[in-house]
Amino acid sequence: MTKKKRIGILTGGGDCPGLNPAIRAVAKTAFFCHGGEVIGFLDGFEGLIKNRTKKLSWEDVSGILTQGGTILGTSNRANPFAYGEKKKDVSRQALRNFSRLKLDALICIGGDGTLHIAHKLHQMGVPVVGIPKTIDNDVDATDFTIGFDSAVAVATESVDNIHSTAESHHRVMMVEVMGRYTGWLALYAGVAGGGDVILIPEIPFDIKKVCRELQRRSKIGKRFSIVVVAEGVKLADSKLVIKRKVKSSTDPIRLGGVSYRIAEQIENLTDLETRVIILGHLQRGGKPTDFDRILATQFGKKAVDLVMEEKFGCMTSLQGGAITSVPIRSGIARQKMVTPDFPLIEAAKAVGTCFGD
Ligand code: F6P
Repeated sequence: MTKKKRIGILTGGGDCPGLNPAIRAVAKTAFFCHGGEVIGFLDGFEGLIKNRTKKLSWEDVSGILTQGGTILGTSNRANPFAYGEKKKDVSRQALRNFSRLKLDALICIGGDGTLHIAHKLHQMGVPVVGIPKTIDNDVDATDFTIGFDSAVAVATESVDNIHSTAESHHRVMMVEVMGRYTGWLALYAGVAGGGDVILIPEIPFDIKKVCRELQRRSKIGKRFSIVVVAEGVKLADSKLVIKRKVKSSTDPIRLGGVSYRIAEQIENLTDLETRVIILGHLQRGGKPTDFDRILATQFGKKAVDLVMEEKFGCMTSLQGGAITSVPIRSGIARQKMVTPDFPLIEAAKAVGTCFGD
């Protein structure tokens, strides 16, 4: 008879809608299908380092399917291999805590940073399973990550809403979205919201071409233009616009504000009034979409399957509609970028969207 499993679980990195449905799916599958126990680590790897845990009950995971955020809390600073200001290696301490709790597995729900740590812990012998989540959708070897669709929905609604005020005032409106170094969020929200110009890091843009398109629209009687900008686009000097640096974070750079620089250039080169809206953390708030609830439910169930099969060092993955698993290392080996021949780029260009290239 298979032993009942004690499964540890944590959510790491920036939060996003869809984490709670994933926690719920892991816990309910473990309880209902295997009679197992689930121990939550609080605030991501901080909980593993400091041994701060909470045993999850049915009540804890009931009614959270529709809730954004994470009932476990999260942190994008607590890296067991480089902890605190002094970047101390406290991984042995984390391992000791894991062993003392007599856990059979650790499920890590997170993006690039969390999955890197999970991979290193697995190399040290921790039986790890990963679940990819991030609004940036930049984890490789999976078509989508949990949280991306919900962020796209928020950004799309914002682009929709900006149309009427842009039209009333005959303005160019720039909507800046997150996504870190990739343009997935800007591309999907830009296409879904009918952005006239979409600027993403993967397609270097020429400001003169952008201005030409805005002026062309103005001349043919379009009273406004919407420009959707990814926070990670680079200016002509190839520089990223950095908002702040969070020293103790796994990736200290925080982007934001590039739109103000682009807007200034547009106003200098044209007579078009240009305003900026930076959506920021709104994109990580609110309820998960139906897609994210479904993806999280399937990923959570699959993660428990992987634990039961003792298939460690793997993460769940969505590939062409199928839920499968891949080694964590293939998800983190490189950042998943939008390729210029990505079908959605081709479709957007076919309907007249300008990428400034
Ligand atoms: O990785 C998710 C993300 O929201 C990025 O899109 C964004 O650049 C970054 O995190 C913001 O991080 P923080 O919440 O630390 O400001």
